[in-house]
Amino acid sequence: MEGLGDEAGLAFLTRQSRFLALTGLAGLLLALVLSWFLARRWFAPIDKLATAARNIARGRLATRVQVSGSDELAVLARTFNYMAKRLDTIEASRRVWLTDVAHELRTPLAAMRAEIEALQDGVRSFDDRTALRLHRQVMRLGQLVDDLRSSMRAPEESSAALTPVYPLAVLGEALAMTRERFAQQRIAIDRQQLDALAAQGQPVVQGDARRLHQVFINLLENTLSYTDAGGGLEIGARIEEAAGGPQLLLQFDDSAPGVSGGELPRLFERLFRGEASRNRDLGGSGLGLSICRTILEEHVGSIEASASPLGGLRISIVLPLVADA
Ligand SMILES: Nc1ncnc2c1ncn2[C@@H]1O[C@H](COP(=O)(O)OP(=O)(O)OP(=O)(O)O)[C@@H](O)[C@H]1O
Ligand SMILES: [Mg+2]
Repeated sequence: MEGLGDEAGLAFLTRQSRFLALTGLAGLLLALVLSWFLARRWFAPIDKLATAARNIARGRLATRVQVSGSDELAVLARTFNYMAKRLDTIEASRRVWLTDVAHELRTPLAAMRAEIEALQDGVRSFDDRTALRLHRQVMRLGQLVDDLRSSMRAPEESSAALTPVYPLAVLGEALAMTRERFAQQRIAIDRQQLDALAAQGQPVVQGDARRLHQVFINLLENTLSYTDAGGGLEIGARIEEAAGGPQLLLQFDDSAPGVSGGELPRLFERLFRGEASRNRDLGGSGLGLSICRTILEEHVGSIEASASPLGGLRISIVLPLVADA
C-alpha cells in the first residue's frame, strides 16, 4: 500500500513539475514575443531617424521623418524635421546668394575686357582716364570678392547697414563703367533729365550704395544685351511728393527689341529669360531683374516693367528719399 502511495505521489510531482516547466516556458515565450513587439515599436522610429540623419549627412537636405503620436520620440522626430528644414533653407539661400555674386562678377570683367580690347585695337590710347576706369573696375571686383568672403557668415547677417546715399551719383558711376561698351555697340544714351535733376541738388536715399550700384549695372547690362545696335537708352529722372514723403522716380527706356505683353509680368521671376534672351547667344541666366527687385525691396522702393515708347523695355524705379535732405 505504501508503495502505491509513493507512486501516486511521484506521478503527481512529475505532473506538477511538467506543468510548472510548461507554464514557465509559455511565460518566457510570451515575454519574448512581447519584448520583440515593444522593441519593434521603440526601435523602428529610432532606425528611421538614424537613416534620415545619414541622408542629411550625405547632403539630401529635403529628407524628413514621419511624426506620429506625442511621446518623446515624436518630439525628437519633430525637432529633427525642424533642423532639416532650417539646414535646407540656409543652404538654399546661400546657393542663391553665391549665384547672384557670380552673376555680379561678370560685369566688371566684361568692362575691363572692353577697355583692354579698345586699347589693343587702337580705338583708344592709354591715358590717365583709362587707368582710372580700369582701376575702378578692379576696385569693384575687390568689393565683390569681399562680399563673397562675408558670405561665409549667415546670409541674413551679411546685408550691410543702410547709410545716406546719393543715388544719382551712383547711377553716374554705373554709366561711366559701361560707357565704353555702349559706345562699342552704338547705343546712344540720353541722360539730359538725369543731369538736370542732379544739377538742382543731389537727392538722398537711406540705402546701400553698392547694392544700388548693382541695380543700375544690371539694368544697363540688360540694355546692352537686348537693344539692337544703333538704338538708344533714355534715362528719365524726377522727384515726386507721395503720401509717405518725397520719392525719386527713375525711368530707363530703351529701343527695340522689347518684351511681349505676356512676358512682362514674369521678368522679375528668378531664372526667367524672355524670348529675346533665349534667341540671342549672349542671353544671360535670368537673374538680373530678380536681384534688382530684391535690392529695391530692401530700400522700401519698387521696380516695374512695361513697354517703352522707344520700342524696347521701360523699367521704372521708385526710391523713397530722406525727407530733410
Ligand atoms: N532692356 C531690355 N530689353 C528687352 N528685353 C529685356 C530687357 N531687360 C530684360 N529683358 C528681358 O527680361 C529677361 C530677364 O532679364 P534678367 O536681367 O532678369 O535676366 P537675363 O538678362 O536673361 O540674365 P542675367 O541678367 O542673369 O544675365 C531677359 O531674359 C530679357 O528677355
Ligand atoms: Mg540681365
